[in-house]
Amino acid sequence: MPDKRFHLGWFMNFTPDEWREPFGQGGTPWDGQFYIEMAQTLERACFDYIMIEDKLMVSDNYGGSTEAGLRTAMMAPKHDPVPLAVAMGMATQRLGVVATMSTLGYPPFLMARLSSTIDSLTKGRFGWNVVTSAENLAAQNFGLDKLPPRDLRYEMADEYMDVMGKLFDSWDEDAVVLDREAGIYADHTRVHPIHHEGKFFKVRGPLNTIRSPQGRPVYVQAGASPRGRDFAARHADSIVSIASGVESMKAFRTDIRERAKSFGRNPDDIKIMFCITPVLDETEQLAKEKQRRMVEAPYFIEDVLVSISAITDIDFSKYPLDEPLPGRLVTNGEQGSLDKFQNFGSGKTLRQLVVDGAGGLVSSVELIGTPDQVAERMGEVIEQVGGDGFLITTPVLRVSRRYLVEIADGLVPALQKRGLVRNAYTHAMLRDNLRAF
Ligand SMILES: Cc1cc2nc3c(=O)[nH]c(=O)nc-3n(C[C@H](O)[C@H](O)[C@H](O)COP(=O)(O)O)c2cc1C
Repeated sequence: MPDKRFHLGWFMNFTPDEWREPFGQGGTPWDGQFYIEMAQTLERACFDYIMIEDKLMVSDNYGGSTEAGLRTAMMAPKHDPVPLAVAMGMATQRLGVVATMSTLGYPPFLMARLSSTIDSLTKGRFGWNVVTSAENLAAQNFGLDKLPPRDLRYEMADEYMDVMGKLFDSWDEDAVVLDREAGIYADHTRVHPIHHEGKFFKVRGPLNTIRSPQGRPVYVQAGASPRGRDFAARHADSIVSIASGVESMKAFRTDIRERAKSFGRNPDDIKIMFCITPVLDETEQLAKEKQRRMVEAPYFIEDVLVSISAITDIDFSKYPLDEPLPGRLVTNGEQGSLDKFQNFGSGKTLRQLVVDGAGGLVSSVELIGTPDQVAERMGEVIEQVGGDGFLITTPVLRVSRRYLVEIADGLVPALQKRGLVRNAYTHAMLRDNLRAF
């Protein structure tokens, strides 16, 4: 019988939780404990990985000021995801932990050493969400006046990945001899400088730490533009995507797999995870009401607009809520997320775009109902798309303990009952779990 299982990931950010809601944790996640417990809950539900978002700026795009962003705590304040990934990894045994780090922010040598170290600390469960950054404000924190154009960012990132690969391979698998009698820890003939000299980077190597359990971390990527898709298809172990319905999911997956083949890769080595935001309750009616309450909450529209403004460098406060957008908007930032949001050609007003799309940013397909109904639908969707899994999140990434429990103890058991997801981990390391089916 064919294996119909698919993979599960979770996408969150290290910002305050659902701090205005009665079931929130209160808005003070700064010691990491809330999110560490979240990781443990996801491990109980046998998720492949938890992925921590990151941005490197305090946005002032919305209304030309940081006021709305800071008042609502959308996107900032935010802690660094890397220490949290370590803490989550040390508090779990099987769950993969993925941190976002930008090629704009770290020189390749530091990135390779840091991610290799975390892979060792987590015994082979670390993943790196490879981003090039997409905002002028982020670029201005790293000595640039504005963000380089997308194609140049990806050209630099391709060379960056090349350097990373060389650094990870600068230690042969058998370089650590650990021969106590002969007094040899590492064999210097099996540790090689890389002497990389390219267009953008010059790195001598070798890495000054040992080869990590996975050899290199799992690479996660979210390229959406043609250039971004090439980058993802060339490098990624897992690709996260926001699509608009089953057909667009299928088209995206087919396209990535074709690109991967053209680079000589086995497309089955790439697990494509589609963002979803399931809304669950005891009856379908209750779930629909819950969804309606969420989009009608007084702050929902502003939260969504602040967040989309931050990642597109576009000020959405200047567009009237009850009129359609003036035309197709274009950004040097996250164009894929923008296109999903603006649903160009739909004729919808800005308010409808936010409400109908429940934020529009993150759900590839609508999933509202009982755990059994949603589980059934997820199975159908993956069967039609061909694979490979879902990345669960919420419209503005905020999470409450209650929502986590609905997923981990309501939806996941319903999926397990249908044989759609794993009910036990079969491997110790993240890449192996991703490739298990
Ligand atoms: C699910 C998802 C998560 C993402 N997470 C981040 C992130 O944490 N930080 C970031 O700078 N960009 C993030 N991005 C943006 C992507 O890295 C990428 O810039 C975007 O998808 C647009 O693709 P393009 O660069 O090919 O236009 C994310 C995108 C998606 C779909």
